[in-house]
Parts: sequence; C-alpha cells; structure tokens
Amino acid sequence: MTEHAHAMSMSERADELEEEKMHEMERILSRSTFSYLADGKQEMDVGADLLKKNPGKHFLMGADPRLPPMPEKPTLVDYFRHRFASTAHLLQSAAHALKTGQPEKVVMACLVHDIAIVSFIRCDHGYWGAQMIEPYVDEEISWAVRTHQALRFFPDESVGYGYPDLYKTLFGLDYQPEDYIVDEYQRARKHKWYMTSRLICVNDIYAFDPNMKVNLDDFVDIIGRNFKQPKEGLGFDSSPSAHMWRTILWPSRFL
Ligand SMILES: [Fe+2]
Ligand SMILES: [Fe+2]
Repeated sequence: MTEHAHAMSMSERADELEEEKMHEMERILSRSTFSYLADGKQEMDVGADLLKKNPGKHFLMGADPRLPPMPEKPTLVDYFRHRFASTAHLLQSAAHALKTGQPEKVVMACLVHDIAIVSFIRCDHGYWGAQMIEPYVDEEISWAVRTHQALRFFPDESVGYGYPDLYKTLFGLDYQPEDYIVDEYQRARKHKWYMTSRLICVNDIYAFDPNMKVNLDDFVDIIGRNFKQPKEGLGFDSSPSAHMWRTILWPSRFL
C-alpha cells in the first residue's frame, strides 16, 4: 500500500478501487442516484465528469459484465437464479405453505412475497413487489403481497399469528407502525382477500432456517400455472412494470 493510500479514509480507498476497476472495463458504468442516497450522499453521477475520467470510452447501455448473463428472453425463474441475491426465505415460506396444504395461490404469493427485497429495494417492499408482479399474476396474489407489508405488524390469533419475536429484535420494543401502515391494515382487515395476505405472514415466520434447503425446481410448475410469463421476455413486454424488471436486469445502465 502506498503512503497515499494510508492517508486515505476507507471510503476514499473504496472509491479509488471502484474507479480502478472501472478503468479495466470497456464501458463506463454508472450508479443510480438512489444508490448514493442509500450511502447517505446527496450526489449523482454526472455524464461529462465520467467521460473526462474515462477518455475514449462510452457509457454502458446494456448488460453489466460483472453480473451473471441473462438469456435474451428472461423468465421469472431466470431472475430467481441470476438476479435475486437470496431465495432461501422465499422458497422456505412457499414450501411451508405447500406442506401444510394451503391453496396454490397462497404458495405462489409466498414464493414472491419478498422479491422486492432480494432484487431491488427494502423500504416499502410489499408495495414494490406487488407492482413488479401485478401484470403477471392473479389480482389476489399481488394484493396479498402488497398488503403483507402492513399485516405482518398486527397479530391475528385466529391463525396463531402473534407479533413476531423477531420484530422485537429487529426494530426494538418501542417500534410503532406508522399511520399509513395502520390504515392499510384496517382496510385489509375488511377485505375479501384478507386471509390470503395473512397466510403470507403465517408462512413467513417459518422461513428463516439457515440450514433448510428448498429447491426452486420444485416450484417451476406452480410458477408456470400462476405467473403469465411474457413471450418477449420479462422486462421486454411493455407491461406497466416491465421497466422495473429491465432495471434489475441492467442496474448500471446509464439511462
Ligand atoms: Fe415481507
Ligand atoms: Fe418474508
């Protein structure tokens, strides 16, 4: 390590490494402003600055060579295998629903209930996840995914669901859901599909076993029956959420 490197803070060093890596690439990668915000920085990549730092290069406008390649017409299963950072929790909750004889719609809802977290974004993940799948699944499934965002904070003794102990550890004893979550819960309570969403929460708490292995292959048929895979490929079908899938496909694309 040079003296110069010693004098730098860890984050400056990380930035420099990132820049060195970028110089090895044929194209200029860019980061979304959101990823800076999540680092606590109100910053953005500026095209002209990046061009100056990378003379003679152009911006990446497609697949990121650092990520696993995806087929030209990707399916939901391809995203599971090559984009989702972890699938164990989704698979375990779906497996629990299947094993306990719950309806196939519930199994499918469990399988995708946290896809926003594993592929995209944490905050308000139920809402994002519902939007991602809405064009491709039965309305009941996307409704249930959206609403589990709120329901998981409220007990329902009729199905043996108490406020999860895990949440006390995760959020602290004093955490109170915000008003928009409370309102969502109250609306959902009266909804005809309430129980579908509630069952996501029930299966959720059985799905954090670090040693349990569930194979995605066991769910390919269920996905086939419950997810309308677009023939153009998921992301290229001009549905209202196709752009979300494309962004997960090409997260470092300039525009
Ligand atoms: Fe969730
Ligand atoms: Fe979950």
